[in-house]
Amino acid sequence: MTQLQDLVHQAESEFSAISQPAELENAKARYLGKSGVITGLMKELAQLPPEAKRERGAAINLAKQGIEQALQRRRDSMAEAELHARLAAQAIDVTLPGRGQQGGGLHPVVRSWMRIESIFRSIGFDVADGPEIEDDWTNFTALNSPQNHPARSMQDTFYVDVQDARGQPLLLRTHTSPMQVRYARAHVKRYAGADMPDIKVIAPGRTYRVDSDATHSPMFHQFEGLWIGENVSLADLKGTYTEFLHTFFERDDITLRFRPSYFPFTEPSAEIDMMFDSGPLQGRWLEISGAGQVHPNVVRNFGLDPERHIGFAFGSGIERLTMLRYGVGDLRQFYVGDLRFLEQFNSD
Ligand code: DAH
Repeated sequence: MTQLQDLVHQAESEFSAISQPAELENAKARYLGKSGVITGLMKELAQLPPEAKRERGAAINLAKQGIEQALQRRRDSMAEAELHARLAAQAIDVTLPGRGQQGGGLHPVVRSWMRIESIFRSIGFDVADGPEIEDDWTNFTALNSPQNHPARSMQDTFYVDVQDARGQPLLLRTHTSPMQVRYARAHVKRYAGADMPDIKVIAPGRTYRVDSDATHSPMFHQFEGLWIGENVSLADLKGTYTEFLHTFFERDDITLRFRPSYFPFTEPSAEIDMMFDSGPLQGRWLEISGAGQVHPNVVRNFGLDPERHIGFAFGSGIERLTMLRYGVGDLRQFYVGDLRFLEQFNSD
């Protein structure tokens, strides 16, 4: 083997022992650089006679190409090894189970809301929706709670920095009862002069008060009920509400009690209490709704003659019914957005 072939082999084995790109570049300089071996051999050519110079020059060039090729092969194999290492590190294990897509669920209060609507629709009630930002007249005055009436202090609320046409600040409605006024007035207007069918409606929605503890939230849900006709009595209220509770709780062993109370917009007024006749809550009276015969002043504000039109109203808390249906102990659970709590209702 010639000295030049030895040199190529030596370069080859040196290159292949190297694993760092920077080291490889240093090794390249030792052979091909300005003061490298090949360059040195080229310089020596000057001392040879012309004939020998050509031969030797061609042989050195061949060795130079051999070293360059060995260098390139090592560069390629290092790049390939690097790529393999990177792919291995970033490998996706396609046999792992996927994260999947979690389906959303309905909030328990919304579940109750939908249930309430469908139950009342099935017994002939319309369902109405109305504004959460209400005017003072509709929220209080039309419901027989004039300015400075002490009953207003039971329902402190949040005010909006905008005045209505009467110069009163708008407010977040404290109950769904203003929907009695809105719905009844629209109904009366719609049937003006014609034979008016009974007003028979529920109005579910959000309500607001300055209140916050384990059983009160500044925002909560109510549904209002109103049935006004020429011959509607408290017996109809009792029948309707009993039917509702039996269907809502899917059980008949429920006892109702109408306990005298006070609301400005009804006379007489009652709290509706219910009791389960079996199960964990057996024998405890649970307050679930305000109700009563609509006060003549309120009937007048509907645009109707209280001597002719009579009926009842009720207003119930949706959270309260939901807590009883599912056995939830703390009202605040409904508002913290804890999935561990909320997910329990998805299969219902
Ligand atoms: N609006 C009352 C409240 O929020 C509940 C209520 C009581 C509604 C009696 C009624 C009713 O319609 O007749 O406390």
